[in-house]
Amino acid sequence: MSVQTSRRDDDDAAEVGEDFAGRLLSWYDRAARVLPWRIAPNSGLTPDPYRIWLAEVMLQQTTVAAVASYFARFTERWPTVADLAAADDADVMAAWAGLGYYARARNLLACARAVVRNHDGFFPDNEVALRTLPGIGDYTAASVAAIAFGRAAVVVDANIERVIARHRLIETPLPIAKREIRAALAPLVPTDRPGDFAQALMDLGAGICTPRCPACAICPLMTDCRARGLPDIERLPVKPPKKAKPHRHGVAHWIEEDGRIWLIRRPDKGMLGGMRALPGGDWSDARPAESIIVSVDHGFTHFDLTLALVRREATDAAAEGEWWPISDLDAAGLPTLYRKLTDKMLERDG
Ligand code: ADE
Repeated sequence: MSVQTSRRDDDDAAEVGEDFAGRLLSWYDRAARVLPWRIAPNSGLTPDPYRIWLAEVMLQQTTVAAVASYFARFTERWPTVADLAAADDADVMAAWAGLGYYARARNLLACARAVVRNHDGFFPDNEVALRTLPGIGDYTAASVAAIAFGRAAVVVDANIERVIARHRLIETPLPIAKREIRAALAPLVPTDRPGDFAQALMDLGAGICTPRCPACAICPLMTDCRARGLPDIERLPVKPPKKAKPHRHGVAHWIEEDGRIWLIRRPDKGMLGGMRALPGGDWSDARPAESIIVSVDHGFTHFDLTLALVRREATDAAAEGEWWPISDLDAAGLPTLYRKLTDKMLERDG
């Protein structure tokens, strides 16, 4: 491995990236985060594709810190893909409550069932076949192929995007830059330890090449990083202009009787699909005219919502639903939006 001690000039392009994987992996051997789904570098253990897949699905759009407890609960309750495939939809949706992006949970079940039905319970070991499974897109296929099966796939998540955009000083705004980032990364992926390579870049992005105040002085890739020392390094990768989000309003119904409230299940298609929820109307642009007990604000990816709670009589309960004990609301697995609303309501009632 060649060790470079001085910063390279930008026009010295032939050398940029030299022994990139070697430097990164020797840093990873010392500094890898210990994570519940991860096989420690050089441990000689074989990763369990089910656990890797589950973690990668959970980690999309969610932080490592938020995922850890969910991962532990899922793997304890459903230790294999066959266990998960045999689970009740409602149990899985409730166990996912709070992680957000609920289509992932529906696809998770569909994927587990497809692996059992079509692949004898074994995850396919390559990107192309993985991509045919429900909920497995380019990112998950690449990360599972690399981490679980040692394939030299090009894995690009938000952390990796940032590391590469800075290392190569890619000034094109996202999402257009994705193509350039991928092209810059592809030749650097080693055939030996591609899974550790991907995870090392993730760890570097999470701990050193951070969005704010990157710790360039201790970065294993500092010698040829083209953004190192730039006063405005935090600007990279260049983000697209923020779109103004529309604001919607909704009404949820608090129907209470004998210490229980009426819960429904939202339709499988659409926002929070398949999740337990309070009954209520559509979410629209109009502010409700009814008399509101409490309300909460909640941000979704494409709009912000103010959801107001109003009281209704038991006779208003729709045909389909269930009475749920208020004292056991935790077990209902309400998504965060409804959890915030019921918490506020119960706090108010004392
Ligand atoms: N983010 C997404 N996948 C990850 C992984 N395998 N390790 C750490 N962070 C991640």
